[in-house]
Amino acid sequence: MAAHSVQVVYDLLAKSYGTNAHRTIEFFQGVQRMAILRACLWQTKRLGKTLEELDVLTVGVGNGEQRRTLCILCLGLFHQRIKDSRLVELDISSEMLRVARQLHPRGTDYLKKYEDGKAPTQIRGDAVSTVLPNGSFDVVIGALIDHIPNQPKLYRNVFETLRPNGMFVVTYPHRRLMKVIRKDIYGIPIDQTRFVVDGREYCVPSLTLLPTEIKALMRDAGFAVSTCKALRLYDGWYPDVFDHHPQHPFSPTVWRAHKLMRVRPSRIPVLSFAVGQKLL
Ligand SMILES: C[S@@+](CC[C@H](N)C(=O)[O-])C[C@H]1O[C@@H](n2cnc3c(N)ncnc32)[C@H](O)[C@@H]1O
Repeated sequence: MAAHSVQVVYDLLAKSYGTNAHRTIEFFQGVQRMAILRACLWQTKRLGKTLEELDVLTVGVGNGEQRRTLCILCLGLFHQRIKDSRLVELDISSEMLRVARQLHPRGTDYLKKYEDGKAPTQIRGDAVSTVLPNGSFDVVIGALIDHIPNQPKLYRNVFETLRPNGMFVVTYPHRRLMKVIRKDIYGIPIDQTRFVVDGREYCVPSLTLLPTEIKALMRDAGFAVSTCKALRLYDGWYPDVFDHHPQHPFSPTVWRAHKLMRVRPSRIPVLSFAVGQKLL
């Protein structure tokens, strides 16, 4: 199957991203959610700032899932949240940016109570080539940044845009799980992922990194690596998945992979996760 342009496919995918039509993405979002939230809370302690005072960039924002975590979930759990006005959202797909914009419509009671009325800043561009202001962010989140081709350049770009003591949080699909899903179930190359939109199949390039490989990328760009590990089922939190499918908390594809892997569901390495620090 031919590989398609990432931007074109995400423009098409946007309307159904984060719905039941793409259960594996929803599952990944659930698995990474608490790890990203914990890293941001830890960063507040390191910097002596509140969540409201953090300047945050999300690279490849997608449908704005990290905003849901860092704003709504955070507020519910800790009575503080990252401010929309301090968020910058970058994505190559204008349609994904539009979906992210709709996540918290302005003017709702929620925003009136907790926000200063300013929506996040959005930038449409390639994370590798977009020039970002130097030393502007306390946190950069790159969740599921597996489609970005020139990873060393991306890491250098992020390093420059972080303030001293800034933090880079990343996740990628884990190679062990992806090998089974891509090669054994779908019969596609391991460095591609497959989406079905309106009954048509599309393949786009997608990296499957191991934690050790992320560590090398981080170090080469100048980061000190503070966390580097595989995220498994119980690292996650997915009430939405349980709500829709109380019989099992998996995407059907991950469920099939789990049967082939012959390991307990709780032992499947789902994502590779790492946190890098730009030390002073
Ligand atoms: C798998 S989604 C992840 C979205 C979100 N971070 C999440 O965790 O759900 C990847 C996103 O990265 C965007 N993307 C892909 N290549 C990119 C690039 N080179 N620069 C910026 N964004 C890119 C896609 O448009 C898509 O929205």
